[in-house]
Amino acid sequence: MSNNEIPLLELKNVSRTFKTEAEELDILQGVDFSINHGQTAAIVGPSGSGKSTLLYLMGLLDKPDNGHVLYEGKDLGAAGDAERSKLRNVAFGFVYQYHHLLPEFTAFENVLMPAIIGGKGNKENRTHAAELLEKVGLQERMAHFPAELSGGEQQRVAVARALLNRPKLLFADEPTGNLDTASAALVFDLFEELIRQEDAAVILVTHNRKLADKCDKLYTIEHGRCTPHE
Ligand SMILES: Nc1ncnc2c1ncn2[C@@H]1O[C@H](COP(=O)(O)OP(=O)(O)OP(=O)(O)O)[C@@H](O)[C@H]1O
Ligand SMILES: [Mg+2]
Repeated sequence: MSNNEIPLLELKNVSRTFKTEAEELDILQGVDFSINHGQTAAIVGPSGSGKSTLLYLMGLLDKPDNGHVLYEGKDLGAAGDAERSKLRNVAFGFVYQYHHLLPEFTAFENVLMPAIIGGKGNKENRTHAAELLEKVGLQERMAHFPAELSGGEQQRVAVARALLNRPKLLFADEPTGNLDTASAALVFDLFEELIRQEDAAVILVTHNRKLADKCDKLYTIEHGRCTPHE
């Protein structure tokens, strides 16, 4: 089914520099990374080291200044914006560090949003959205607006939303930052379920060492370098 010869996602010699009025910041320098179908990878590193920047590059929300981002062996640097955004919508899920829920929509509507955007707000997806909210323990909060939810509840809505389209590749930026141990374990279980069911892969940024240790691969970012640990 999947082609295990080719990594699902690969970064080759990726660099990212931010130019501000005062200076140029070399945030990432020569980053190599790869993940296969069925794997989890954790990215750890100090605050400000470039973890979110790296996830944005991997998730095609940003472009590197140098190097290559390959999805299933295809270099996406050369791909147009339409192809990149289609891939994001169809194959990727993203849990943002600050959730990015839409404030004027309920928890249920936020979770359903990826399907609505794809013109598929149908019964099957509505049922799936409700199931996901139930799985993250929010069956009693479906009609709540983000402002009426706690930080950890918003985070779980964001996780449910990222799972709705059954992505092949899920990016999660500190997905358990606001969660207690039991809720964090539950979220990780959902990631593992996605991996099993869809032959997917999950890349997560985390300060939670326990969670990082559960992953197949571990990378540390520091001083612009991304170092793999065996
Ligand atoms: N658009 C930008 N313009 C200028 N500098 C930026 C920009 N985006 C990020 N940076 C800088 O890049 C560095 C890395 O930011 P990033 O958000 O990737 O860190 P992080 O590792 O995710 O940190 P945290 O753990 O606090 O979330 C920071 O010093 C930040 O100030
Ligand atoms: Mg960050």
